[in-house]
Amino acid sequence: MSIDLAVVPVAGHGTRLLPSTKSQPKEMLPVGRKPVVQYVVEELTRSEMRRLLFVTGNGKESIENFFDVNHELIRFLRETGREELLATLEFERRPVEYAYTRQREQLGLGHAILCAEPFVADQSFVVALGDSIIGLHADSNIVQRMVSEFERTKADVVIAFEELDDPKEVVHYGIAQPRGTAGDVFELADVIEKPDVAEAPSRLAVAARYVFSPAIFEHLHVTKPGKKGEIQLTDAIRGLLKAGGKGVGLRLAAGERRFDIGNFESYFQTFVEFALSDEEYGPSLAKHVRKLLEAAPHK
Ligand code: G1P
Repeated sequence: MSIDLAVVPVAGHGTRLLPSTKSQPKEMLPVGRKPVVQYVVEELTRSEMRRLLFVTGNGKESIENFFDVNHELIRFLRETGREELLATLEFERRPVEYAYTRQREQLGLGHAILCAEPFVADQSFVVALGDSIIGLHADSNIVQRMVSEFERTKADVVIAFEELDDPKEVVHYGIAQPRGTAGDVFELADVIEKPDVAEAPSRLAVAARYVFSPAIFEHLHVTKPGKKGEIQLTDAIRGLLKAGGKGVGLRLAAGERRFDIGNFESYFQTFVEFALSDEEYGPSLAKHVRKLLEAAPHK
């Protein structure tokens, strides 16, 4: 059977979004009409993922509640004749199994994935970071393409990459060192977490989606704290590649952008873009924004 298991780490504190994230998870912030995590799940189910394991943490309970079937709410909407609102809850009925485990200490993304090991065991699996949406309205099958590539090339790791427009941005991402020239699919020689601009081997940034063979766990076990004193997933991938593991990079397609909600600048941009493309309210919002910009052309 092809891979149908995705691990979604959502344990981070979201400190870059304070105070919004003081008592709610960043993954529950709305982007247009839906919370971020709903887009992530829609994207994953579009790519045939059927078992989702969230790695949560303190204060993330609302994510678990969100995916429960809320019979009381359904009954209330039905009894009051709000059929159009009932339709917004259809995601509750997807054929997906949800599981939750907790990262009990905040030791980094690599450590969060290690928390999934007792459940993943010897299976290959997808990792989708819960604070990034791929494609406008999550209209992407990148994970499915990555799984196909993983199986075709018999890789140990496949990573999605987005080419950065601004080379100075490399300091915020894991950066690929391709073997040879990097086409749409390329072999990975190395990957470096948040390098200095001068040391970046390319402008190809890790774009929040991965496919792993279970071999990653043995490298996570021996990965020492790296950037920010955290156990970095990128460093474990590096160990896997150094030990002879096969790594493949896949570029996001043209127009298949990564929307990061982990900081206010990109969260604001993402919200506005999704809201502007809302079928019902997008046109009136566009009019409003245009009016605001015309009234303040100096900004
Ligand atoms: C994480 C990864 C980084 C990746 C980024 C976006 O960083 O460590 O390699 O490029 O997500 O997918 P974070 O944004 O959690 O600091």
